[in-house]
Amino acid sequence: MRVSIVGTGYVGLVTGACLAEVGHHVVCTDSDESKIQTLESGGLPIYEPGLDGVVARARKEGRLKFSRNPKEIVEAGDAIFICVGTPPLPNGDADLSAIDHVARTIATEARSPKLVIEKSTVPAQTGQELKRALTVYGRKSGISFSVASNPEFLREGTAVSDFLHPDRIVVGVENEASERQMKEIYAPVLERKFHCPVHAPACPEGPAPTWLVTTISSAELIKHASNSFLAMKISYANMVADLAERLGADIGEVVRAMGLDPRIGPAFLNAGLGFGGFCLPKDLQAFVHLAERSGVDFSMLKEAEKINHKRIGRFYEKIKNSLWVVKGKQIAVLGLAFKPNTDDVRFAPSIDLIEQLASEGAHIRAYDPEAMDRARAVLPNIDYAKSAYDAVKDAEALVIATEWDEFRKLDWDRVRNSMARPLILDARNLLSPRAMKAFGFEYQSFGRPD
Ligand code: UGA
Repeated sequence: MRVSIVGTGYVGLVTGACLAEVGHHVVCTDSDESKIQTLESGGLPIYEPGLDGVVARARKEGRLKFSRNPKEIVEAGDAIFICVGTPPLPNGDADLSAIDHVARTIATEARSPKLVIEKSTVPAQTGQELKRALTVYGRKSGISFSVASNPEFLREGTAVSDFLHPDRIVVGVENEASERQMKEIYAPVLERKFHCPVHAPACPEGPAPTWLVTTISSAELIKHASNSFLAMKISYANMVADLAERLGADIGEVVRAMGLDPRIGPAFLNAGLGFGGFCLPKDLQAFVHLAERSGVDFSMLKEAEKINHKRIGRFYEKIKNSLWVVKGKQIAVLGLAFKPNTDDVRFAPSIDLIEQLASEGAHIRAYDPEAMDRARAVLPNIDYAKSAYDAVKDAEALVIATEWDEFRKLDWDRVRNSMARPLILDARNLLSPRAMKAFGFEYQSFGRPD
């Protein structure tokens, strides 16, 4: 099938590359010309494990192209995925102006019927507005447009695998023809008929993805409700961790036992510095606004948000209690990305924490395996180290802000010997308190007995 993708953020790029990987002919565009330039010259504007190989192969085999020409994109696809950003406005609503702009381009440039698919995370009822915009802007051409909502559940860091091996594929459609088209697009994924770049030579056995056809409004709501639920789960675990700390219980033991109940499940119960990134915080905020505008008192979402905001302060208190005076102290921070296996620092708790420490007069020397370049753009005034070992040299405290696997496996004797004071403040509960104490560190984390 001929597919076009508008927006080459991580969702657009992963969607385009993976659809090409499974056999479709895909053309991608972006209003940011520099991204297309990077892609055309063989680079990637983001770090996403495994994506470079998928993009390179699909391009070589002629199934994936990039274009700066919006007309060409509209022409090239029978199905057009809108994957543009919907950043938060100052009032917390999602900014849908990029979607409106794309709708206008499609409606005015189309010369044949198009299926226009919302892939960006949008508030419920955006589909209706999109349909109206396509009809209004395209009224002179007489071309028919169908709209579908196909929420993505990709996680940064594992997005290629998530796309090719989803638990469920949700398509919100307005007619049977759109449902058939969407099924054709996803047939190779549903039937597992593709050469998997993640699990070569063979994928592990597992259930086939569930194919869910819904109304457009339901599909839109599913996305927001899912992300907000995940955010609430994390905030819940964080509150239990605070309580565990007071009661002398161990949050690791508590959530492990909770997660064994299939009604609860083990995922997203890791206590720590809280959730960040460009999805959970903004989706939660937009969901709160949607509920308010719809006259529904969904105040538990606001609580989840409030709890998350307080995590930085909670952790800062731990640092302060351990160091007594923060001003003038040399602090090593390991981890800048909002979570491991990505270079994304947008709404990263580590960045807020560093800003607070720096504003109190601490000297920060930070290291992250992938996110240093992006961090430099938002935190230009701290020191950046070449490695974790370089970061901890002469430090009076070591803060773990992102749980990269690399940090789990450090040579702890070497770390201890090069620090001015062997103090670890683990904001992600990455390490074992007992093991770290055995290595001779003072060690603090969330919700675990001293
Ligand atoms: C999230 C959702 O998990 C995806 O399903 C969704 O498709 C995506 O948003 C999106 O809307 O595009 P992502 O933002 O990549 O994916 O990151 P998550 O893995 O959800 O992690 C979000 C934040 O929560 C990170 O800062 C992470 O460190 C934190 N987290 C996660 C915890 O603090 N505890 C946990 O137990 C899990």
